[in-house]
Order: sequence, then structure tokens, then C-alpha cells
Amino acid sequence: MCGIVGYVGNQEAAPILLDGLARLEYRGYDSAGVAVFGNSGLKVAKAKGRLRVLSDQIQEGRAIQGQLGIGHTRWATHGAPSDVNSHPQVSQSGKIAVVHNGIIENYAQLKEFLVGHGVPFTSETDTEVVAQMIEYFYDGDILKAVGRVLHRIEGAYALGIVCSDEPDRLIAVRKDSPLILGLGEDFNFLASDVTAIIKHTRDVIYMEDGELAELTQTGVRCYNNLLESVEKEVFHVDWEIDAAEKGGYEHFMFKEIMEQPEALRRTVFPRIKDGEVIFEDFGLDDDYIRQINKIYIVACGSSYHVGMVGKYNLEQLLRLPVEVALASEFRYMEPIVDERTLVVVISQSGETLDTMAALREAKRLGGKILSIVNVVGSSIARESDVVLYTWAGPEIAVATTKAYSTQLAVVDLLGLYFARRRETMTEERYGQVIQELLLLPSKLEQVLESTQDIQYYASQYFNHDSVFFIGRNMDYALGLEGSLKLKEISYIHSEAYASGELKHGTISLIEDGTLVVALATYDKLFDKAMSNVVEVKSRGADVLALTTKNHAEEMGKTANGMITIPTTDELLLPSLGVVPLQLLSYYIALMRGCDIDKPRNLAKSVTVE
Ligand code: F6R
Repeated sequence: MCGIVGYVGNQEAAPILLDGLARLEYRGYDSAGVAVFGNSGLKVAKAKGRLRVLSDQIQEGRAIQGQLGIGHTRWATHGAPSDVNSHPQVSQSGKIAVVHNGIIENYAQLKEFLVGHGVPFTSETDTEVVAQMIEYFYDGDILKAVGRVLHRIEGAYALGIVCSDEPDRLIAVRKDSPLILGLGEDFNFLASDVTAIIKHTRDVIYMEDGELAELTQTGVRCYNNLLESVEKEVFHVDWEIDAAEKGGYEHFMFKEIMEQPEALRRTVFPRIKDGEVIFEDFGLDDDYIRQINKIYIVACGSSYHVGMVGKYNLEQLLRLPVEVALASEFRYMEPIVDERTLVVVISQSGETLDTMAALREAKRLGGKILSIVNVVGSSIARESDVVLYTWAGPEIAVATTKAYSTQLAVVDLLGLYFARRRETMTEERYGQVIQELLLLPSKLEQVLESTQDIQYYASQYFNHDSVFFIGRNMDYALGLEGSLKLKEISYIHSEAYASGELKHGTISLIEDGTLVVALATYDKLFDKAMSNVVEVKSRGADVLALTTKNHAEEMGKTANGMITIPTTDELLLPSLGVVPLQLLSYYIALMRGCDIDKPRNLAKSVTVE
């Protein structure tokens, strides 16, 4: 939530900040602002609305001169989106400007304290408290003032700070919100993530919780919260700028859907050698793997839906209890975790606050943490005992697609790896699944060739206002993702139901013309799926079915419309099945004129509770 970027160097800062913010806009987009220090002092410009509004206001940055500055794109938490609540927030004298991602939990007490000392406030934000507090403690050294404030603020924050009395220094601070530093020859950056700065540098430092950094044109210094100097490792990011650009596609979401075969090849192929799953430098030894007595999968949103499929797959492969918990619930439910519990944490961003909190709780209870993460060096990756990266490349669209697919593939690889060591699979079945995993990218390419059919169905159904996704077992788990994808980008109300549950209440909502997306990919339960299709059709539903090619003929006799996927091993069906559902949501949202990459009220990385 919220994107921040800061630059100090020998070029004009404002255009660079605007460009960085454009790449971070997926993190929040209800208002934006910049503060730049130049010959005429510290200039602040901010505006409610998309970044374009700010950019027009400051003539693409030409209207504000200076070679040091900070910028922000906001997803409002405290205070409605408005010009005044936008960041940067400045102190009463206008000397200190702050951009912030996160929430200051004790801002009300701090505000009361400052108001008691005569400090006037202009916004409703928690961030203004930070700017005012820094000024309150400022006595000529901005780093020291920030250090003092850090001991008084509680909550989550990534902060970029400038002070007009020390116009050659940028200060960066992080706790529980992502922040990286980008290092260049004659410039340095701070940013919420690598996409904002990859155009300028690939050398980055990942800041740890409680750390501060001081950036000048010629160098970067990092400190712990006692302001003692700390040495940091510099990482080299190896992906290309094109990965974070639309490359001719109208939307990132569509580009990312199309990238799935390649993302799967990157994720899966290097981990299969001579027909065996291998994880290099894997931190779990075979003895531990054999001793695991329970797997807990913890995640949010689509990553949680991966966990739902994962439960079916892992339980089938390992005959071991697998529980799936929403990260936001996990830490409040007194979970049963011990040293033989493997806690699998799934997160694209690696920064989701609820997931991070669940990870810490699981660790506290003694569990071993294995995370499946896309963003290298993210907080969740760093705090886990073992990390398996998904190598999907940067995912920019708010609605996840390629991260979901690659997470699922990693869960399957993990299941196979464990099954080998726990001897729960026959050689033959193991070989079959490996073979199908290797074929998955090309089968996915076949699915992506049938976009025209899906476009046709989208044109039939885009004006519906309520949709049900039904399925059993893995098809139910798949339906959860299909339903989320549709509602988040098209704003159509949709729900996923385990088909057997319909008759316990939901079926009363089915009437003439209700769209039911019936998921019937799972061979073992095809007959059951068929009877549910008949059941809803007889109540007037319009049924769009998703099934495998070998069941097309039979399904075609009953369903009103049908999308097919190639056959594969049953474990991998959701990996193929999800793609038509992503495309259906995409085309429906397109036909409804929705802002596909930036759906209302959402942000890509959810770093608030
Ligand atoms: C939906 C979506 C979200 C995320 C969720 C978790 O399309 O993208 O539901 O899956 O916010 O995010 P990560 O995986 O970054 O922890």
C-alpha cells in the first residue's frame, strides 16, 4: 500500500520521481505528491487522483527544479483521499517533508502531545505526526532527530524524509514496510520496490526492520536504531526493465496472463533434473522431512487459494494432515504448531502484513517456516527458515495471475520432493507427474490460444450482476480463485461454492438467467459435477462449464457454454483451469470498461492489517 521513492543525484529530481511513481502506482493510486529541494528551497506539490493529475500540475516535473526529492503514491488509510491528506506531509515550518507507507498506530497520542505543545495540524493523516515530531526534536541534525522519533512511534512504516536545512541528505527508515536503496555512480535512490529504480540501477540494498539510511549524491550509509553504523550486502537484480513494462499490451494483467508459460518454465525446469525434483541449498534435511507431522499453509487472497489447492495435492501425495489458514485469522486462533509442524507461507510480494505476522507467530510457537515468495529479498523471504522463489518476474497488475500459477507449481514440486523422501508415491506415479509438470507450459500455451472463445463468452455475460462458481474438491478451490478474480476487477458480485453445499441454502438464489460457472475438470468427480450442472440448470441457471477435452462431448449436451482445457495429471488441473478463468475475468472487466490493472479500493501489496 502506497509507493515511495526518493532520489538524490546530479539530475533534475522531479521527472525521475514521477517516472518512479508511475511504476509504483499499482501500490496505491488515490493521490500522489512530490517534495523537491532546489534553489528556491523545498517545494511540495500534491494532488488527489491518479498520478497524471500531479504530473500535469507540475508539467511532467519541469515546474519544480532541484536534484533531491521524495515522492509518494497513496492508498489512503488515515484521512480520505484529498490534496491535503496526500503525501509528502510537511512540518509546521515547512522545513521537513515526509513520505510514508504504513500506519503509525500511536499517532493519536503523539498528536495530542504535539498539540499540547502548540503544534498546529493541517491534515488527518498519521504521517503528519511524523513530520511534526521530527521537527519537534530537530536541533540541526536530521538523522539524529529521526532516530529520536523512531523510539516514540509504533506501527509499520517505510519513510522517506528531507529537511531543507540539510539539502544534500535524504533519510530512509523502515519497520514492517518494504524499503530498498538503489545505488548509482552519481546518485542514490530509496524506493518501495525495485521496479521504481531498475531503469537507473540494479544494485540494491534491502533495509531491515529498525534500520535507517542516509543517502547523499555520493554514498549511502546504513544505521541500526541506535544510530550505530551497519554494513549491508549489495544485491544485483538480474531482471530486465522490459519485465516491468507493458511491452505493447494494453494491460499488465493481460501481459502477465500471457507470460505464464514462460514463468512456469523458469520456476519448474531448473528444479527438475534427470526426472527428479531438486532444490539447491534446501534448508530442510531428509530426517526432518520424514518427521513432519503436520503442514500448515498460511496466506492471504489468491495466495490462500493456492494453499486451498495445495491442501488437496499435498494430502494426496503425502497422506499427511494439511491445514490452510487465512493469515489474518491464523495469529488470533491459537494455532496448534510445534517443532514438527512445517508452516508453508505463500506470498507474491513477500510483504503482506497479515502473512508476515502469521509467520512470526508460527515461529514463536516453534514451527519451521518455508516460504514460497516471488519478490527476492522481501521481508517474508528474509524471515523464513527456507525460501523457494517462484521466479515469475515482477507482477504489476493488482490482480495476480502468473504469481498464482508459479506458486501452485512450487507447491506441487514441494509435494513431490517430500513424497520421495517419505516414500508415499510409487516410482511410476512420480514419473508421470514429473512428465506432466514438464509439459505444463506447452499445455498452457494451448489454453492461451483459445482466447477468442473466452472473449465470446465474456461478451455474452459481461452485463450479469451476480455469478456463482461451483465445483468440488480442487475444482472448488479453483472456483474460489475464479470468483475472486472476477469480482476484484469487474466489480460483479460473485461467489464460489462447493457444489454439494448449494442445496443447503445457496440454490435459492438461482433463478432464470443466473450465471453459474461450473468447474468440472476433476475426472474422479465428473459425474457429480454433471449432476450439479443439471440441478442448477433445472432452476433456470445459464451454465458456463469448464472441463477437460475428454469430457467435452458429455458436458456439451447440458451446459449452455463450455471452455475446455487439455487433460493432464489430476494434481495439475487447477494450473491449467485457472487460466481461462483469469481470461474470462479480464475480458468481462474490459467490456465493462473497468480499470483492470488498478481496480478501485485495492493495492498490490497489502502492508496494513
Ligand atoms: C488477488 C490478489 C490478492 C493477493 C493477496 C496476497 O488477485 O492478488 O488477493 O493474492 O493480497 O498477496 P501476497 O501474495 O503478495 O501476499
